[in-house]
Amino acid sequence: MRFVVTAGPTREYLDPVRFLSNPSTGKMGFAVARAAAERGHEVVLVAGPVGLGTPKGVVRIDVTSARQMFAAVKESLGDGDCVFVATAAVADWRPVKCAAQKLKKSQMSGTIRLARNPDILKSVKCRHKIGFAAETCDLMREAARKCHEKGLEMVVANDVTQKNAGFGSDTNKVVFVKKNGDVEALRMMGKLAVARRIVRFAEGLA
Ligand code: C5P
Repeated sequence: MRFVVTAGPTREYLDPVRFLSNPSTGKMGFAVARAAAERGHEVVLVAGPVGLGTPKGVVRIDVTSARQMFAAVKESLGDGDCVFVATAAVADWRPVKCAAQKLKKSQMSGTIRLARNPDILKSVKCRHKIGFAAETCDLMREAARKCHEKGLEMVVANDVTQKNAGFGSDTNKVVFVKKNGDVEALRMMGKLAVARRIVRFAEGLA
């Protein structure tokens, strides 16, 4: 099978030295790419700015902003006969303008005008889509809503308020919320183990 995976944060610059972003480290997405490659699948990993090495056998495309990630994903999906796993923590908003030079304090008003970024997962068309939902409340309800609204086979939901789950940790505690309403709560485990479960699920869709 062919897998396209997004990972890490995006950065939305307001001038050459300042940006909006989030603490995503890319560990979960890199683990999915590694797990898929280990199973012999063809893998393209579209990565935001992270400090991780490329897993063996994976083709990596580095991007910075959400719009660059969107373009790279569309290109990588090709005819859409693949599985798209969106683990990236894409910034939902970007500054309307990015100044060419570093803004001086005196040039800043205290207000930044923002524009919506594209929802990559929702917008792209491909055979199978799997998403993530990092939530701090209403985990299951939000996951089911995203699964439906974005046309997904499954949402991997995690409560990011839990210790050792979510941003930056090597472990994760997630719930698989599937399109048919099935719910599977996994115990706390390493991100690579979670990734292997996701890849097995995707293989079952083929
Ligand atoms: O709606 P929310 O951002 O919580 O959805 C999370 C899922 O959607 C993740 O799989 C994330 O990678 C994806 N996403 C995306 N593009 C965005 C926002 C989220 O692909 N602009």
